[in-house]
Amino acid sequence: MIVKLRYFHREKFFYFIFGFILIFLLGCKKLKNKFSNIFLERDLLEQPPAQRCGECHKDIHKEWKKSRHAQAWVSEDFIKESKNRTDEKCLGCHASFPVWIEESSFAKEPELREKHLDDGIYCVSCHFDPHRNTMVGPYDVWSPPHPSQKDEKILSSHLCGVCHQDTFSEWQRSGAENTCQSCHMPDIGKKYLTQKFPFGFLHSKKKRTSHEFPALIAQQKDIDVKVQKHIDGFYVYVVNKGVPHNLPTADQGNPKLYVFIYKDNSSEPAEVLVFSPQQENSLEYMVPVSTYIEGVPSRVKVVIERKLSWKDKRDKIGEWNFDIF
Ligand code: HEC
Ligand code: HEC
Ligand code: HEC
Ligand code: HEC
Ligand code: HEC
Repeated sequence: MIVKLRYFHREKFFYFIFGFILIFLLGCKKLKNKFSNIFLERDLLEQPPAQRCGECHKDIHKEWKKSRHAQAWVSEDFIKESKNRTDEKCLGCHASFPVWIEESSFAKEPELREKHLDDGIYCVSCHFDPHRNTMVGPYDVWSPPHPSQKDEKILSSHLCGVCHQDTFSEWQRSGAENTCQSCHMPDIGKKYLTQKFPFGFLHSKKKRTSHEFPALIAQQKDIDVKVQKHIDGFYVYVVNKGVPHNLPTADQGNPKLYVFIYKDNSSEPAEVLVFSPQQENSLEYMVPVSTYIEGVPSRVKVVIERKLSWKDKRDKIGEWNFDIF
């Protein structure tokens, strides 16, 4: 009897899933809408915390948790420098209300939201459009728990530029075609967008992009270094030819780029150049910077390192060696 009952339940369950898939395949809009209404989870349109989105979008939530966006409101430096989060001009970009203002356009200045501030820059900031009352994303999907709308604008650098304003202008000036997303949200392969049963079964895998928003690090090939003898000394030229914004770049943070120049086998640098957006001397895209150093060594070594705003440790970008004379 028990066996039979179980079998019956299982059968019912398969019919249910089968029916679901059938409706999906048939693409019958009316039925789909009816089902969507049954599965609609209304609180998702009331700007819930990221954790709530993570109930289905588990993997994306995990990645986002590791990102600086998740730290934007709770970062110690931010708390200190914004006078314990009382300096009003600091707050909007660090815990922003959804940035979509009307169809396909973005706010000029992000506004401070009222709830779930600790989530900083979270799912709702980038994906929820309060005017269309829907999630906005790169795909045309059937997402019963919440309405979704495809909008190519989410793939544009303008989205990031709402808050990364200085970096955005630098990027525009560079004339680069790659968007911020194409570098800072790298493709991580085809995967399911949700991990909650039964949605995984009802949807196909799609291209996923990293929601860790890595800062990345410039490669040796992104920077050109040249050394040229001149009278009783030598010039060192440095050009950022690979990163289509300043190196380093920042709106409010204080990242730094260090160029150490060594003569012969000395372990003490003859000169150290420090570039930082706070001192307004970053390496602009394709604009060479040079320095003159007295003395004529037979070898010169140049080492470039960077330090991100929120890290104490420096990371090495590359090392260049020259036998010049
Ligand atoms: C109960 C499960 C569930 C929850 C909770 C949920 N989603 Fe979704 N979401 C889905 C499903 C299902 C899809 C469609 C997946 C597919 O097509 O592979 C989807 C798709 C999406 C997409 C892609 C839309 C597109 O057009 O490209 C975005 C963006 C999204 N959700 C954002 C969110 C955000 C933000 C939250 C929290 C406010 C959230 N979701 C909460 C189930 C959920
Ligand atoms: C609503 C405002 C906002 C939007 C929109 C936004 N960001 Fe950010 N982003 C921030 C803030 C604030 C931080 C700094 C958080 C911290 O470290 O305290 C940040 C940090 C970052 C970092 C890390 C920098 C570092 O030093 O490690 C990267 C990379 C980044 N964002 C890329 C992007 C990209 C790409 C987009 C567009 C898809 C984007 N951001 C959209 C506000 C935003
Ligand atoms: C700073 C803005 C930003 C934040 C915060 C953010 N996303 Fe996204 N998300 C994007 C962008 C931009 C894309 C499109 C990337 C692409 O296709 O190049 C995207 C893509 C997606 C997709 C489609 C699949 C994929 O991986 O490309 C889903 C689903 C999604 N996001 C859900 C979420 C959820 C859930 C959260 C919170 C845990 C979240 N996003 C946080 C900007 C953001
Ligand atoms: C061609 C790829 C590429 C594009 C396009 C790009 N970046 Fe970057 N970005 C990088 C690399 C590489 C770094 C790491 C630089 C370093 O070594 O510190 C970086 C660093 C950053 C940082 C961290 C601070 C720093 O200087 O290290 C932020 C913030 C940032 N980018 C934002 C953006 C935004 C916003 C856009 C779009 C307007 C964008 N990036 C476009 C490659 C790119
Ligand atoms: C226009 C949007 C915007 C405003 C306004 C803004 N920030 Fe930020 N902030 C950013 C972005 C984007 C980043 C990511 C790195 C960068 O570009 O500097 C950031 C990064 C930071 C960082 C470095 C990351 C960290 O957590 O250590 C600090 C500190 C910071 N901001 C403090 C402030 C303070 C203090 C104010 C007010 C004086 C402020 N911000 C106002 C957008 C903004």
